[in-house]
Amino acid sequence: QWIYLNGSYVQKENAMISVYDHGFLYGDGIFEGIRIYNGNIFKCKEHLDRLYDSAKSIMLDIPLAYEEMKSVLIETVRKNELRDGYIRLVVSRGPGDLGLDPRRSPKANVVIIVEQLAIYPEEAYLNGLKTVSVSTRRNIPDALNPKIKSLNYLNNILVKIQANLAGVGEAIMLNSQGFVAEGSSDNIFIIKRGIVFTPPCYCGALEGITRAAIIEICQKIGIPCKEEPFTLHDVYVADEVFFTGTAAEVIAVREVDARTIGEGKAGPITTRLLKEFRAVVE
Ligand code: PDD
Repeated sequence: QWIYLNGSYVQKENAMISVYDHGFLYGDGIFEGIRIYNGNIFKCKEHLDRLYDSAKSIMLDIPLAYEEMKSVLIETVRKNELRDGYIRLVVSRGPGDLGLDPRRSPKANVVIIVEQLAIYPEEAYLNGLKTVSVSTRRNIPDALNPKIKSLNYLNNILVKIQANLAGVGEAIMLNSQGFVAEGSSDNIFIIKRGIVFTPPCYCGALEGITRAAIIEICQKIGIPCKEEPFTLHDVYVADEVFFTGTAAEVIAVREVDARTIGEGKAGPITTRLLKEFRAVVE
């Protein structure tokens, strides 16, 4: 397995960076999770756009120009000979001293890992996941903007821990105002009376690329889809609920906080959207 590390391709065992890296010391950096379907990098432009936007926002100089990064991504995928897989692209502030001043970390670290993906079993897509809401709150734009896909994932880790304790795979995070934001690493959608809803990004949702793909598919096939704030109550009484993400794709939810959603399995619109999504990627 070849890993791209600052201009070189190295084996997994040799892929190492300094303990002074500010990604490690402070979570100072950004990342992307990207899928490879049939040897193609899915939504490459969208992921690179989000990466460079995140970098600009936190004043992180990515040492590769956009087109160079694209070539390096393609080359890393090619070298690993994977037709289907997952890419983790990480850019951290790079090594500095123990102070947090980014001016003392002039050289960012760039790492690209390509792997096989352990996704949910197919059964989960048919039967849906059980999920719970958790007490961890998503920061909304008064603090770190959720549009920045940063290495600060402690909120999300805390959600994951709460999900683990509840024995579920994904959980629902609210923002500090009590509106639904997203999952630990997925966006959330609900469907009520044929209308699809997802929280606007200002509610604390990452501007997910799968989320955008689903909104686009809805428009294409004529299912109304709205970005609107909603509460847990709306989730409980929804006809269908699903999560979207690069890793998860479109995964139905059958239970939220012990309330059965719809028929307790993937509903018709979710099933249709998954089918349409898979038709796009395959
Ligand atoms: N997830 N929200 C959060 C907090 C995320 O980390 C992710 C991505 C998403 C979904 O965004 P997208 O559709 O662009 O992947 C939402 C991980 C890293 C992944 O699925 O790869």
